Amino acid sequence: MMKETGRMIENQGERDQKIVTIFDDIYNLPDCSTYYRAMDHAGFRTAHHAAAAFRAVLSELKRARGLSTAGIVDFASGYGIGGALTRHDLTLADVLLRYRDDWFDDATPDAVIAADRDWYASHRRAGQDDQYYGIDIADKALGYARAVGIFDEVFAENLQAEDASAGLQRALASTDLVIECGSVAHMLPAALDRVLQGAQARMPWVITAPIRGNDTAEAIEVMGDHGLTVEELDVPPFRHRRFADEAEQARAVANAEARGHDAEGFETTGYFHAQLFLARPASEVTPVSGWPVSPIADLSA
Ligand SMILES: C[S@@+](CC[C@H](N)C(=O)[O-])C[C@H]1O[C@@H](n2cnc3c(N)ncnc32)[C@H](O)[C@@H]1O
Repeated sequence: MMKETGRMIENQGERDQKIVTIFDDIYNLPDCSTYYRAMDHAGFRTAHHAAAAFRAVLSELKRARGLSTAGIVDFASGYGIGGALTRHDLTLADVLLRYRDDWFDDATPDAVIAADRDWYASHRRAGQDDQYYGIDIADKALGYARAVGIFDEVFAENLQAEDASAGLQRALASTDLVIECGSVAHMLPAALDRVLQGAQARMPWVITAPIRGNDTAEAIEVMGDHGLTVEELDVPPFRHRRFADEAEQARAVANAEARGHDAEGFETTGYFHAQLFLARPASEVTPVSGWPVSPIADLSA
């Protein structure tokens, strides 16, 4: 039996046949299980590749700045997959497999949260005292991610429309790294501007994984305006998720081509593809080939 999730989910009856055509309805539920089941079905892969880069960037950032602990903002975090895979010794496959278990069919949100809190606690990477903050407009998704220990603090705020609250300003002032993945919107330019404005005391690095076509000039310009040097990481384009239908694919091909990408062999295969951008102050631009941790995902995981 499928959990109550909202009528936009088209469930064809079998677990491996659940088809989700519109994701908006599942971004803000009291627990993450429905979202991850839907993303599992849709062939979601971004977070696997993005998190490999997040871990590598965090490691290099700490080395370059001599930090023992860092403040990390997961922007448009949803249920917190970016923070979860950076902070824990878990792969995206581990997370997606977890929610295939029948137990989650009827488990209440409170029961899911209690079980997930234990699960994440048992997989926390050793020796990490970093602070993780989640920002999203989805308050329930953030509440879940805070309750299970992915984030230390969460902020349900729309920085695209409004200035940061005092609490978020405080968190931003101790932010060294901004991570973002899985969002079709890419980093919204006005929100990105407010994040970087609030965080200017530390001049954070930004690592973001927009899908091809949403690697907008505006967002890249905002990072440049804040004194950051933006580079595309030399990681081959990777799958984000399967297209819901032919119309979505046609739009994605057109968007990718409008941004100068060759869609052949990528979007033409039926999947959104994403890439990685890293922004750092010019004085901290070290060659990626010399980093202690590779930003390229383990494809066997
Ligand atoms: C495709 S989901 C990605 C969530 C998560 N990063 C992941 O990979 O699972 C996009 C997220 O963007 C959030 N979002 C949309 N508009 C936003 C805004 N103005 N500020 C912050 N988050 C926003 C949505 O609520 C949703 O959680």
